Amino acid sequence: MLVIENITKKFGGLVAVDDVNIRVAPKTIHSIIGPNGAGKTTLFNVLTGVYKPEHGIVKLEGHRISGHLPEHIAARGVGRTFQNIRLFGSMKVFENVLVGLHVHTRYTYFDALLHTPRFVRGEDSARTKAIQLLDYTGLSHRAEELARNLPYGEQRRLEIARALAVQPKLLLLDEPAAGMNPSESAALKDLIRKIRGELGITIVLIEHHMQVVMEISDRITVLDYGKKIAEGTPAEVRDNPEVIEAYLGSSALKK
Ligand SMILES: Nc1ncnc2c1ncn2[C@@H]1O[C@H](COP(=O)(O)OP(=O)(O)OP(=O)(O)O)[C@@H](O)[C@H]1O
Ligand SMILES: [Mg+2]
Repeated sequence: MLVIENITKKFGGLVAVDDVNIRVAPKTIHSIIGPNGAGKTTLFNVLTGVYKPEHGIVKLEGHRISGHLPEHIAARGVGRTFQNIRLFGSMKVFENVLVGLHVHTRYTYFDALLHTPRFVRGEDSARTKAIQLLDYTGLSHRAEELARNLPYGEQRRLEIARALAVQPKLLLLDEPAAGMNPSESAALKDLIRKIRGELGITIVLIEHHMQVVMEISDRITVLDYGKKIAEGTPAEVRDNPEVIEAYLGSSALKK
């Protein structure tokens, strides 16, 4: 589904992502973990065209996407959520999903301006679709509320609903469990599994919440200082001495 080949991304002298190779198989849940500053979010920004890598190539279903604009990559079927939630807080919950759906609407600016039948039809079906997506993510009871009034865990689910609106083949989730309580993160696990199982969407998950990662991942890649230091099944990664070292090192640094 996704091939990341020899990707390097630098910020000045800092090598944030250092010659990373990852292959993500279709319909898997593939997690990327690593200490703070390991380069995980930077890698997502390379995958989605926000940053151009200095080296390397990214392919989606065999076609190169690196070097393309973010909106082209999104249109090719790559959806994402953000580590720092990026909702339109003063818009209603369902309107936030509509924003995602408008990537797919066919009418022109003039249709919208003149309220042509094509525009009205498009808007009606977009609204129906938005409500369906809110149902799917367990947020339909919040549809009319302002996004900023939702509790944190529900804002993260709303980001997922919006990302699903672009009908992705590949969904990139950047720390979706951050700030969630145990029951919210349990519900999130179920939602991620459902998205993969029912919708057949491939998922790449960045997450610090180890219980979530270990329970739902088919495969895990570990980054540290921009480099891939380990990869394998949850059991393989958990027992890898280099991984344990990287995590112990980082928590020691924080103290
Ligand atoms: N736009 C930027 N300009 C300069 N340096 C950056 C930029 N974005 C990230 N970095 C640096 O690149 C490194 C990797 O950052 P990144 O955000 O990718 O880490 P991360 O693995 O997502 O960490 P976290 O778990 O804390 O989210 C860090 O040292 C960070 O300070
Ligand atoms: Mg990050």
